[in-house]
Amino acid sequence: MASARPTLLFIHGFPLDHTLWDPQTTSLADVADVLAPDLRGFGNDRCALPVAMTMEAYAADLKALLDERGVDRVVLCGLSMGGYIAMAFLEQWPERVGGLILCNTRASADTLEGQAARKATAQNAFAKGVDVIARAMAPTLLSDLTKRTHPELMAHMEAMIARQRPEAVAAAALGMSERPDRHHVLRACTVPALVITGSNDALMPLPTSRSMAEALPHGRLVVLEHAAHLTNLEATDDFNSTVRAFLKEVN
Ligand code: MLT
Repeated sequence: MASARPTLLFIHGFPLDHTLWDPQTTSLADVADVLAPDLRGFGNDRCALPVAMTMEAYAADLKALLDERGVDRVVLCGLSMGGYIAMAFLEQWPERVGGLILCNTRASADTLEGQAARKATAQNAFAKGVDVIARAMAPTLLSDLTKRTHPELMAHMEAMIARQRPEAVAAAALGMSERPDRHHVLRACTVPALVITGSNDALMPLPTSRSMAEALPHGRLVVLEHAAHLTNLEATDDFNSTVRAFLKEVN
């Protein structure tokens, strides 16, 4: 039987796993049926991986999950790479999307320089190890304030990245390098949408979020002060109350 509550599908970023959403899955369970799967190859997922996992392929996995669970319509909430995947999902199955939350992400494609960096990341995952990537990447995800006030989050993120398999990291990096610009998908979006970012996100500077919110006919931008790339962890209370209010709007 269909549930009157919305289903909220959280899509994690790169190279992370479903535990990214731990502060949301319990807190928002009173207002939504929450799904927070591991993307192919990450976390506990052990499905076979192609050399490059495109955003379309991850989206197809998520569609299969919804079909399996008998869920017709969802609110998608994707962070960073999770946002790329949410946009790929929306492009293919707009009728399955009742609301869209794009966090710390962008709708534009990689530059040539960005694509070259993805290849280097894929090679380094095998040649140097994911723990080396983890040590370099973790500090870039959090704001200086977060690092000062919640030093434990840095170790948490480093550990989350370090435990991912090199195959999954490489496949995702190469898949991200192939993604197209999807501003046109946002312009065609007919459902309520939220773009959330952090004022200190150096990886996805504010103009990228602004351009997404402007492209969305029913979109709104929310900037969480002092947070960087991981708004859901760095500004958990504000993030959760923003999502909670949005769910009411969607329902
Ligand atoms: C992420 O957090 O998913 C990544 O920063 C996305 C990217 O590398 O483009």
